[in-house]
Amino acid sequence: MISSVGMPTRKRSASPAPADGPLVDTFGRVHTDLRISVTDRCNFRCSYCMPAENMTWLRREGILTFEEIERVARVLKGLGVIAVRLTGGEPLARADLPVLVAKLAAIGFDDLSLTTNGVGLPHLAQALVDAGLQRVNVSCDSLDRERFASITRRDALDAVLAGMDAAEAAGLAPVKVNVVLMRDVNDDEVVDFAAFARKTGRPVRFIEYMPLDAAHAWERPDVVPAREIVERIDAVFPLEAVGSRDDDPAPADRYRFADGRGEIGVIASVTDAFCGSCNRLRLTADGALRNCLFATQESSVRDLLRAGSSDADLEALCRRVVWSKAAGHGIDAPNFTPPERSMSQIGG
Ligand code: 5AD
Ligand code: SF4
Repeated sequence: MISSVGMPTRKRSASPAPADGPLVDTFGRVHTDLRISVTDRCNFRCSYCMPAENMTWLRREGILTFEEIERVARVLKGLGVIAVRLTGGEPLARADLPVLVAKLAAIGFDDLSLTTNGVGLPHLAQALVDAGLQRVNVSCDSLDRERFASITRRDALDAVLAGMDAAEAAGLAPVKVNVVLMRDVNDDEVVDFAAFARKTGRPVRFIEYMPLDAAHAWERPDVVPAREIVERIDAVFPLEAVGSRDDDPAPADRYRFADGRGEIGVIASVTDAFCGSCNRLRLTADGALRNCLFATQESSVRDLLRAGSSDADLEALCRRVVWSKAAGHGIDAPNFTPPERSMSQIGG
C-alpha cells in the first residue's frame, strides 16, 4: 500500500529558492532544527546501523573542523535555526567535543542536545554541561546484557546505564532513552522498557527500525509499528496521549502513564511518517548538507567553506538544499531505494 499519510502538499512550484525570509521548502515547511554529525566513527557496531567489520571511514582531512561547523551553524542561526542536536557515528568519539559545544552554546540556540550511545558520558558529561549542553538522548536497545551485546556487538550494557546516571548527575535533563525496536530481536522488551521509564523517570522513545542499516538487510516485517508498541504497553500500564503533533513538530508521539509515573514516546518513522511537519536539516561530518535522512542527493558546504566563499554564498546553498526537499521518504513506494550512506555516516 502506498500511504500518503504525513505527506505535505506542495505550496509553490519549483521556482528558485527565496532569497530571504525563513528557511522554507516548496511545501511550506519551515526549517528550525539542525542535526550536526561530528564523526562517522563509533565504538559500537549496532546491527541496524553499521557492519560488524570493514567499515570504510571518512578521510580525516574531509571532516569539518570545529571552526567550520561553527561557521555553518552561525549562518543557519541567522536563517532561523533554533535547535541543534549533535550526532555521529558516536559524537563522544570526536576529540574535544566540549570545545565545539561551547562554540555552539555561544551562538545561542534555544536547544542544544546530543544523541549518544552513552559510554563516554561518565567521563564527559560534566565537561559537556559546563560547555553549555542542555540534554542528551542515550541509545539503549535491550536491558538484557547478552542481548544488548548481540545487538550492539559490544558487551556494554552496564557502561551505558552508568552513562545515563552520569548524565543525570551532571544535570543534563531530561535524559531520554532511544530504543530501536526490531521484530523478534527485542520487541519482547517493550513492557520492560516501559517499566524502566516508570522506575527511572527517563522518557523512553521507541523508534521504528528504518532502512538505514549498512547491510541493507532491512525488511518491512522487521518493523514493529508504533501503534502496536502503544497497545502492548497500554495493556499493562494504561497510557494517555500527551498533546498532538500539531503542537509539537518533534517526531515523537508522546504518552504518559495514567497514574502519572513517567512517559514514553513512539517515533513512527516508517508506518506513520511525520514528513508533513519535518523541520530538520542535516550536516554530515564531512560537510554535506542533507534535507532528509533518506535524501539521495546532498550538497557540499565544505567545498564552499574551503573555497573561501562568503556567508551569502553559504546562505544561498542552505536555502537551495531546503528548497529541494522532497515530500517524504517514500519507503512504501515500489521504487524506494535507501540512501547510499548508512545511519552512522548521515547522523541520526
Ligand atoms: N533505524 C532506526 N533508528 C536507527 N538508529 C540508528 N540506525 C537506525 C535505524 N536503522 C538510531 C540510533 C540512535 C539514533 C541516532 O538513531 O539507535 O538512537
Ligand atoms: Fe554507533 Fe549509534 Fe550506529 Fe550503534 S547506532 S553503531 S551506537 S552510531
